Amino acid sequence: MTEQAKRRSIRRLAARPELRPVVRSAIDLLVRFHIIYKNARLFEPNNITFDVQTGKLLDLMVDIHDQESEAAFHLRQNSLFFNGTRLKFGFQNYGIFKFIVDELKRNEIGGIIFYPGVTGDELRSFIFLLAKRDARAKRSFVGLEAAVRAAGVERIDIEPIPLSEISTDQEKNSAKVYFLSILHLKDSFERDRNNENIRLETSRRLVQSIYNHIVDNESFVYGLTNLKNHDDYTLNHSVNVCALAVGLGRRIGLQRTELMDLGISAFFHDLGKLDTPKEILEKPAGLDPDERAVIQKHPHQGAEKLLHLREFRNLPLRAIHVALEHHIREDLSGYPISFRKREANLFSKIVKIADYFDAITTKRAYRAKIFTRAEALDQMLECSGTEFHPLLLKVFASMLGRYPIGSFVLLDSWEMGIVVDTNSEPQFQLRPKVKLVTDAEGNKIDGDEADLAETDPSSGRFKRTIVRVLEPNKYGINVSDYFFAQAAVRS
Ligand SMILES: [Fe+2]
Ligand SMILES: [Fe+2]
Repeated sequence: MTEQAKRRSIRRLAARPELRPVVRSAIDLLVRFHIIYKNARLFEPNNITFDVQTGKLLDLMVDIHDQESEAAFHLRQNSLFFNGTRLKFGFQNYGIFKFIVDELKRNEIGGIIFYPGVTGDELRSFIFLLAKRDARAKRSFVGLEAAVRAAGVERIDIEPIPLSEISTDQEKNSAKVYFLSILHLKDSFERDRNNENIRLETSRRLVQSIYNHIVDNESFVYGLTNLKNHDDYTLNHSVNVCALAVGLGRRIGLQRTELMDLGISAFFHDLGKLDTPKEILEKPAGLDPDERAVIQKHPHQGAEKLLHLREFRNLPLRAIHVALEHHIREDLSGYPISFRKREANLFSKIVKIADYFDAITTKRAYRAKIFTRAEALDQMLECSGTEFHPLLLKVFASMLGRYPIGSFVLLDSWEMGIVVDTNSEPQFQLRPKVKLVTDAEGNKIDGDEADLAETDPSSGRFKRTIVRVLEPNKYGINVSDYFFAQAAVRS
């Protein structure tokens, strides 16, 4: 490198401190730390894999200590700092970053400082102490600090988390992203009507946020999809379909870049409905054959609109497939009828499931019955293989649980509640967490969140069990209110 080029590159690095090599090493160190931490939950400290990994971690540590007098990591306002520099995590590392932040919060740790000379044994003991703590138990910082010292770890210090860091505004933010997405779609639809550019970059950023929120708190995001605003059906519907489709795509292991494309495709799957007259879309009684034919044009119209977008080259090609194919059934019937008799795209099959589920759980003027979330899944499972791809549908059903988030249920205690979280252990599939909204007499209450897997210590029996799923409207309950109230509480 010439002197001039060297100076230029130093200037560039100084302008972007996060690119200093030592900062990059610090990120590598966290990535390595994350791997060992996860393994520590599975293996014993004397496991051979562990030796190799700790050795690599130690190498990175030595490398950092060659350049800095200590390696201090601090958590402040949901960001991680290394020796005072905020670490920027790319999209690829977001999951790792979140995991570390969550673990620090769970253990009430606000900072970890590694001093020069730290040994492999110290690193190993420290990671084991952290990782082996019971995930469910609430542990105090003081207890951990004492355990670290008792284990003879001298060259690692921990600092307690500042109080301001403990509360999380995650749920509030999920609700915000949800609303922003609705507003963005509204804007996009208007722009499309006026022949203006749709801001696809914004769409992409929103889908990315939705994805991040699903990683952070899957249940809450699915809870938000209960939002049913009848005036803006297509807007709410499109955001719901996006969240559910991205969730399903994530469950089947799609890569993040693919998930972004899937999210965008889901966002715009019903773009063609902009051309369907409102009188037909909202007609209360059954449609005559001509009207049905008009509705059935929306896949073609949607695909055509997408093809003619000025930002077409920034659009995933599969978005056009999805617009065209999301009403094609697994047995290749459905519409558009002219559809070539070839299998639909994987994205279309995913969006079809999310689309159908959201549609039949939403009250519409022409639909005599709205299905509860559990009924909807049952009904869909009956059409597995004919209407829907069987495996995708199975994953979708297990993602939402036997009692999907947002289900309104009657318990054997005669209390009623809303399912707010699923229990991850398979044996507790029928025992989700339920927010109690009425007491045993049917009076509305702002009750606790009951874990149905909880047993009565004296009898060993479950404290509460679901008797059946109810239709919330019949009891004057608006499920989405609960999720928004939750978001507001955190503000
Ligand atoms: Fe559609
Ligand atoms: Fe749709």
